[in-house]
Amino acid sequence: MTESNKSNITRAADAEQMRQQDYIARVRTIIEAMPARPKAYVETYGCQQNSADSERLKGMLCDMGYEMSGDIKSADLVLYNTCAVRENAELRVFGNIGALKHKKAKKPDMLIGVCGCMMQQEHIAKTIKSKYKHVDMVFGTHALRRFPEILFCALGKTRVFDTADEAGTITEGIPIRRDPPPLAKVSVTYGCNNFCTYCIVPYVRGRERSRSAEDILNECRETAEKGYKEVMLLGQNVNSYGNDLGAGLSFSELLEQVCRIDGIERIRFMTSHPKDISDRLIEVMAREKKVCNQLHLPIQSGSDRVLEMMNRRYTRASYLEIIRKVRAAIPDIVLTTDVIVGFPGETNEDFEQTLSLLKEVEFDMIFSFIYSKRVGTPAAEMPDCLTDEEKHANFDRMLKVQNEISKRLNERYLGTVQRVLVEGVSKTSINTLTGRTEGGKVVNFSCPEGRGSLVGELLDIEITDAQTWSLFGRLKA
Ligand code: SAH
Ligand code: SF4
Ligand code: F3S
Repeated sequence: MTESNKSNITRAADAEQMRQQDYIARVRTIIEAMPARPKAYVETYGCQQNSADSERLKGMLCDMGYEMSGDIKSADLVLYNTCAVRENAELRVFGNIGALKHKKAKKPDMLIGVCGCMMQQEHIAKTIKSKYKHVDMVFGTHALRRFPEILFCALGKTRVFDTADEAGTITEGIPIRRDPPPLAKVSVTYGCNNFCTYCIVPYVRGRERSRSAEDILNECRETAEKGYKEVMLLGQNVNSYGNDLGAGLSFSELLEQVCRIDGIERIRFMTSHPKDISDRLIEVMAREKKVCNQLHLPIQSGSDRVLEMMNRRYTRASYLEIIRKVRAAIPDIVLTTDVIVGFPGETNEDFEQTLSLLKEVEFDMIFSFIYSKRVGTPAAEMPDCLTDEEKHANFDRMLKVQNEISKRLNERYLGTVQRVLVEGVSKTSINTLTGRTEGGKVVNFSCPEGRGSLVGELLDIEITDAQTWSLFGRLKA
């Protein structure tokens, strides 16, 4: 990027920021004139990036005078931050928006907003406009920074639709209200250039843009000062960080810089694309103590034929070579992956190759999905080989194989002492705390009532039980 281009972008961003602040102040004036402070409820449907966007939405809402509420029943404003990656996520959103119709009939002043990835698809925004008339605000991922302006119009009883495709922007300085410590999410890139043939993300998030290293490092420093001990660096493909910035830090160099920040004790990142993972990244992961011994490396399929149809741009052999290098450099690495079953054109032979790859690698955990057709993606036009019944049968078989591997790998931790960063009190019992090992494994451990103050601490936990999805343990005396 040339200097003059760069300064144009900065000026545009500054103007956007001033406009945002102006609308935040205007909404605040309206809110302050209300008899009681209104409550806002924000629900996140998607990935970590979606959740990071929700933290910005909440930040703007708080600055505008709203009180955040975890209870939808008492909310004066409901905001659904949606995900478009698979059909079931979309169906859930439609169901929940439908259910709000009666609520709004009883409470006409309630505002309803739907935003995020789903809204960046034209056919969805149109459906909401015509069939869900009780929705007041519809805005896509590119309009996030304009939320105060959108809300200002909605408070003035104007229905707002802001779903334009402006794929090229980054706006810094949007207010943020993070989830409480110890984990902080920090975006390094937005969007994606890879166009895997099944995936909607590049269409709803736009082309890949890297944030400046300075902005990322400043955000990491701020979180450390606020008591966050763990940072999760986010991007659809973190390994291509900086490719659009010309000369600058690569992802592995950025990672080293984050390690130098006092107060941050653990660093994770996701997602890594196998085609872009560098030897230098593996070397930094092995060398830097703060970088967790965990790698999420989506394979999607074990068949070269399917990987090619998916446009993944690596092969089974090159993927296995990365795994070999990672394990050689970091012997205790915890490996996780994503797998799609039933991609169009996938045969039973292709599926067998995925199964054999899972057995060969032995991932600690997999995130598996049955292929979901996404409007506008190339795979949506490809013919199927297998029936839905066959796809489901393969899926179930795969889970059985993987669950056995996950449980067996977890049992290796029995009797060991693990350093666990405590994330919170368990949802099922106030006497149980939950946290993660350096490898990212969930550990539940009991502790007497009133020990919630241990949240955010790094503790030594002796592992006493191992299940498929989590470990159990006790606090070392
Ligand atoms: N950028 C990340 C992940 C993006 S979406 C990556 O490249 O790995 C998270 C996961 O959802 C993907 O890894 C893939 O396994 C799954 N996924 C994406 N589109 C899908 C679709 N149309 N049907 C089923 N699963 C899908
Ligand atoms: Fe989707 Fe592929 Fe981009 Fe991941 S890398 S977001 S799967 S297009
Ligand atoms: Fe994430 Fe779903 Fe969007 S996975 S990027 S919220 S489509």
